[in-house]
Amino acid sequence: MTEPSVSSVDELVAQARQQVAVAITLEELSAARTVMLGKRSGLVAARKALAQMAPQDRRQAGQALNEAKQVIEELFSAREAELAAAARTQKLAAERLDLTEVTQQSKHGYLHVITQTQQELEDIFVGMGYKIAEGPEIESEWYNFGALNFPEGHPARDMYDTLYVDYGEPASTLLRTHTSPVQARVMESQAPPIYVVAPGRCFRQDTADATHMPVFHQIEGLVVDKGTSMGHLAGTIEAFTSAYFGPGFTSRLRPSYFPFTEPSAEFDVQRPDGTWLELGGCGMVHPNVLSACGINPEQWQGFAFGFGIDRLALIRFGIGDLRDLWSNDVRFLEQF
Ligand code: PHE
Repeated sequence: MTEPSVSSVDELVAQARQQVAVAITLEELSAARTVMLGKRSGLVAARKALAQMAPQDRRQAGQALNEAKQVIEELFSAREAELAAAARTQKLAAERLDLTEVTQQSKHGYLHVITQTQQELEDIFVGMGYKIAEGPEIESEWYNFGALNFPEGHPARDMYDTLYVDYGEPASTLLRTHTSPVQARVMESQAPPIYVVAPGRCFRQDTADATHMPVFHQIEGLVVDKGTSMGHLAGTIEAFTSAYFGPGFTSRLRPSYFPFTEPSAEFDVQRPDGTWLELGGCGMVHPNVLSACGINPEQWQGFAFGFGIDRLALIRFGIGDLRDLWSNDVRFLEQF
């Protein structure tokens, strides 16, 4: 190439355009750039050839070359931007964590079988017109025992294997041993008629085995109204039993003793195979308890019941060992 004619300049641009188009990676593009704009490129050769040209032609040819060089450089930088963007997109796509896919593949979390049981029980009682009440797990001796007609030093307190908290006067603060203190708290703060259930965690100094845990759950029921009787209590327990277990199940009351109810009973549930299972305690709220909580026992009567949620789940789902509920083994838990 001795004389860069207009056509050869056009040719260089066309060549560059083609090189740029076929480069599909930044590396290929950079190699093509060396070919088109590097020391041994046609463009540099053409520039050198300018020296041999007649001065009157040189100016125009030089200008044509400069313009061509600029066009070629622009072609390269445009393509470079394009390829860099594509590379970035590709890198992002490769590094992207597809969270939608993960959630689609993995199972959703779900509630523990005890929580499910508790919520189902709440639903049954809410359906019967009860409200949900709550109380603290760390309780005063007064609400756990005193207000519930356990005189100080009364042997009935010993039935409860109480765990005391090192707070305040010795033996004044404890981990509640049952949900019955919520009864006292509700009666103190609400005017009758009262229809509440109070589910929650309870604690006793027990060695863990298949049927005992030092931490367990109860649900307490309390009704205070006019003219309530043992018949209402039995009917309520029967209604709950068939709502929860199904029509094949029935219930019975057996005389028992609790300081805060009089008369007191324990209630059992009969399974379709005829066997009986002890579920909880119940009775008519003791007049001393009504009085201790500011309710006039001449005007109002009530009944209360309380039973273990964990045991209920055991019966309902045929779980053999309470400790399995705490093992947090998903292979066990995901069955429910
Ligand atoms: N709180 C008693 C217990 O845990 C059960 C109970 C509740 C008894 C309500 C009577 C009335 O042993």
